[in-house]
Amino acid sequence: MKNTLVFIAFVLVVLGFLYAISGTRSPRIPDDAKHAVFDNESLCLSCHGLTGEAPRKPEHPPKDECLKCHKVKRNRKK
Ligand code: HEC
Ligand code: HEC
Repeated sequence: MKNTLVFIAFVLVVLGFLYAISGTRSPRIPDDAKHAVFDNESLCLSCHGLTGEAPRKPEHPPKDECLKCHKVKRNRKK
């Protein structure tokens, strides 16, 4: 019985975590001069890394494959 409760609590924690990292919509990449050219995600980190000019929030999702979540605006060519 105790094990069942522990298991249910564990499942709830995992679901809560998945919800937390998936709940917010990723903002689109702005259509401006700073974002005109990129074909390499390491470029993003030169500005959005910890020491860049526009660091991401500490609660930003952990993964570094930026383009999986952040899409360019629809009116862009690329
Ligand atoms: C030359 C520096 C620079 C580079 C390189 C760069 N960014 Fe940015 N980015 C900025 C700055 C500064 C802002 C905030 C002001 C603005 O809209 O330009 C911003 C804003 C953003 C935003 C919008 C944030 C919001 O709150 O709406 C996203 C998303 C983003 N960048 C993603 C990326 C991704 C993904 C890459 C790589 C493909 C990248 N950026 C490359 C400087 C850069
Ligand atoms: C797992 C999906 C995901 C990946 C991968 C991802 N992001 Fe984000 N990003 C988000 C979400 C969701 C937000 C909105 C967070 C919020 O509003 O609190 C965000 C917000 C941002 C912002 C706005 C400022 C901030 O911190 O909220 C910038 C800039 C940004 N991301 C850049 C990047 C860059 C650069 C990369 C690659 C190194 C990247 N993101 C990878 C999901 C992702």
